[in-house]
Amino acid sequence: MMSNNNIKEIIRQYAVRFNQEIDRFFPFPEGPEKRVTEAMYYSLTRGGKRLRPFLVYETAHLFGIDFSSSLNVAMSLEMLHTYSLIHDDLPAMDDDDIRRGFPTCHKQFDEATAIIAGDGLLTYAFEIMSRPSTCNDAATRCRLIEMLANAAGAFNGMVSGQMLDLIASAYNYQQEDEEDIIKHIEEMKTGRLLRYAVESGAVLGGASDEELKRLVRYSRKIGIAFQIADDILDMTGDERKMGKTLHKDEAQNKLTFVRLYGLDSAQQIARNMIQSACEDIDIFGSGADNLKNLAFYIIERDH
Ligand code: IPE
Ligand code: IPE
Ligand code: MG
Ligand code: MG
Ligand code: MG
Repeated sequence: MMSNNNIKEIIRQYAVRFNQEIDRFFPFPEGPEKRVTEAMYYSLTRGGKRLRPFLVYETAHLFGIDFSSSLNVAMSLEMLHTYSLIHDDLPAMDDDDIRRGFPTCHKQFDEATAIIAGDGLLTYAFEIMSRPSTCNDAATRCRLIEMLANAAGAFNGMVSGQMLDLIASAYNYQQEDEEDIIKHIEEMKTGRLLRYAVESGAVLGGASDEELKRLVRYSRKIGIAFQIADDILDMTGDERKMGKTLHKDEAQNKLTFVRLYGLDSAQQIARNMIQSACEDIDIFGSGADNLKNLAFYIIERDH
């Protein structure tokens, strides 16, 4: 199966709709502190495929939830993801000058502003999540907030993955442990937020235990495949399309599937994961077509 070409257009249309909502979430203060909200807004509105919001929407939609009822979760997640990119690009981390085709936050503003803009987006994400408009039922809202904190955090969440990513190259692991370690890093630093996108959509929609289990399996596989694709594109992609500096993983000695197995095998591993992810959601029938097409798009994308 190849992804339906249409999926690109479907994602693009979702992104247009999503982007139109951003201003509504941004009251700009008047005082000099507005520099931080400007930096937050800058990073949030300069490009971005909006795949995580799209996943929230598509999954919730399986259960009849519409665009506006899934928007707070989608917006919060994109803010949190954008914070992770701002910090990921800082000189102390991956040290990147270009993100989403524009100067990184610390290049456009300055390092200190970029750090607090990240803090601002992270915090604001949780403020939005806590609003009754996120989900009327307070217990479900609390559950969604706890899940997000866990997915983003230091206990087997994105923050732990970023820590491992930074120190992994300096560590001397046993060769036979390498695959497990890489899988773990990719699942944490990237997979957890993608998993949250799907899991939150399912929880918003009131999925049954079995439905949730299927969707979580799907999301874990696309999460790892997503990072494998990112690592492959770091080697083979077009910088203008990608909107970021490439060939950095090798230079920074990052532990990736590409480094371990080479391009072709890494591609094959990702493809197998996507195939299997799609089987996991067969039970949803044609309602899950966009989720399946998105899964293939993840490994076939050029940016
Ligand atoms: C980039 O994520 C960072 C990784 C987790 C690999 P995306 O490729 O989704 O980036 P944007 O949001 O579209 O810029
Ligand atoms: C980024 O992984 C993961 C997070 C931001 C959490 P990478 O460092 O590979 O992402 P890019 O290549 O800079 O987008
Ligand atoms: Mg990184
Ligand atoms: Mg990076
Ligand atoms: Mg990368």
